[in-house]
Amino acid sequence: MIMPYNTAQLKHKLSLEVSRTFLRYVDIISSQKDLPILDAPCGYGRHAFLLANMGCKVTCVDIDEKALDCVESNRKEYGFRKNQIVTKRLDLQKYTLTFPENSFGAIVNIHYYQHNLLAKFIELLTPNGYLYFETPDNRGKNYLDLPIKGIIRNEIEKLCDFILYSEKLAGPSNLSRVTVKLLAKKRN
Ligand SMILES: C[S@@+](CC[C@H](N)C(=O)[O-])C[C@H]1O[C@@H](n2cnc3c(N)ncnc32)[C@H](O)[C@@H]1O
Repeated sequence: MIMPYNTAQLKHKLSLEVSRTFLRYVDIISSQKDLPILDAPCGYGRHAFLLANMGCKVTCVDIDEKALDCVESNRKEYGFRKNQIVTKRLDLQKYTLTFPENSFGAIVNIHYYQHNLLAKFIELLTPNGYLYFETPDNRGKNYLDLPIKGIIRNEIEKLCDFILYSEKLAGPSNLSRVTVKLLAKKRN
């Protein structure tokens, strides 16, 4: 299959900075090519386009209509087919499972933390599928919205094995808030 752009060209074209940790693991995340990847929320699609460029089908969800319109117009501009990048407006706070269980080969959840989504995402993953998750970075007082140390590990390790699990303290140590980056594989 001919890729419209190589990774560096696509990054340049989109003028977007992709998560470096995501880039380090993108070969694993994109390895389940028979099922689509869910990017939730996708924002302007900086990770979705890289995955599509690697031959994956990506379902992009976000609440922001403008962001989804931008994904759609970039899809056309960069020559991806309609079924390679599918956009869907969804409010993740009101989200009840609108996708069938086991329907995604991987799920990417970057810079948007809503704890109850993690278990839902694992339900949506096919066995042996991958969950890649990053909390927002530690900025200003946002540590109050970050998870408490260990809480995410406990949630994910019930059903998945970690390939990456990194926790960093954010804010005053007595509050035990952390930023988290993880890549996990759903058990069979
Ligand atoms: C910081 S951006 C991260 C986007 C993308 N994951 C990335 O790394 O570029 C957060 C995104 O969450 C979306 N968002 C905020 N609240 C949401 C909600 N309730 N449901 C779905 N998307 C939401 C915003 O529209 C925004 O695109």
